[in-house]
Amino acid sequence: MKTPLIDPFQRAISYLRVSVTDRCDFRCVYCMSENMTFLPKKELLTLEELDRLCTNFIRLGVEKLRITGGEPLVRRGIMTFFNAMTRHLDSGDLKELTLTTNGSQLEKYAGDLYAAGVRRINISIDTLDEGKFAEITRWGRLPQVLRGLDAAQNAGLRVKINTVALKDFNEDELFTLTQFCADRGMDLTFIEVMPMGDIGNENRLGQYWSLKDLRTRLAEEYTVTDLAERTGGPARYVRLEETGQKIGFITPLTHNFCESCNRVRITCTGEIYTCLGQEGKSDLRAPLRAHTDDDAPLEDAIRAAIALKPKGHDFDYSRQELGGQMSRHMSHTGG
Ligand code: GTP
Ligand code: 5AD
Ligand code: SF4
Repeated sequence: MKTPLIDPFQRAISYLRVSVTDRCDFRCVYCMSENMTFLPKKELLTLEELDRLCTNFIRLGVEKLRITGGEPLVRRGIMTFFNAMTRHLDSGDLKELTLTTNGSQLEKYAGDLYAAGVRRINISIDTLDEGKFAEITRWGRLPQVLRGLDAAQNAGLRVKINTVALKDFNEDELFTLTQFCADRGMDLTFIEVMPMGDIGNENRLGQYWSLKDLRTRLAEEYTVTDLAERTGGPARYVRLEETGQKIGFITPLTHNFCESCNRVRITCTGEIYTCLGQEGKSDLRAPLRAHTDDDAPLEDAIRAAIALKPKGHDFDYSRQELGGQMSRHMSHTGG
């Protein structure tokens, strides 16, 4: 039996988030600037390297694997990777294989994802107004995403919607979004916008809408019951008694959740970030490539990285006026 991955604060690492590409077919204003420079292909881990890396993490105790990007479904050949991960679900070592997507490619891939063993996915939708959707995603089109959502539900995938709470942008859609999700039997999670990466001229502080305020407004319309259950992710949940649906709150700014953190992140170039909100990282690609027949150096590098996992992030809008506090974009580590 292997020693599990435990960090210096006695938190066991059971959740791995893997960004398989830094590219995206959208340009959400809080996530990317319009002119992004993407990595050359040779920098990316190959699908075989991604497989070996994930397989090693699973051997060391990871039970939940979430594929992210950029937009994970724009990575060429990505289904080969999902299909390869099915063996870990079949063996029972992996409990959940999932992804976070902008939904644009789901019409094409929903059935294949289900066949690979994916059962639950998260789709990001910040507004249900076509014009506003085009404005916030710059390159995205809502009807395409809604067709993707239909395809996912028809394929049997459970869908959770992720909505970034944005001041003066989707405040007026709180009840429309909630009802849309209730009608389709979907849970909905709101996320506080985090100051990550240079996003051009956008005003971060102007975008920030606290989920404390959002929750108060929700409680004016619905009976809100706190739930103790967690999904192994960062969200805290409530149930709306009138609709029966769950609403999640991801509150890095107003209610820190780091003490129960169980996750680490891998970038598409094979770096490991042990905290979303800190710059600390280590390279796993070098041990992966230098020792193709021996996993021991890779395991040593993984353990060394986790031994440095910080206690938590320190996102804080009060310490900065504008712009990203962290130089790294969210798309680098996939949220
Ligand atoms: P579930 O399995 O459904 O609970 O999903 P999840 O919330 O773990 O994954 P998802 O990709 O939907 O995450 C939503 C967003 O939560 C991410 O994009 C991030 O913005 C944020 N998030 C996830 N993990 C962390 C974390 O460790 N710290 C912070 N600050 N934010 C996080
Ligand atoms: N703050 C909060 N959430 C963000 N996302 C992207 N950038 C940010 C940010 N700066 C969200 C996306 C998606 C998830 C992967 O992360 O909208 O739901
Ligand atoms: Fe793409 Fe998601 Fe970033 Fe939007 S938030 S640009 S969909 S990676």
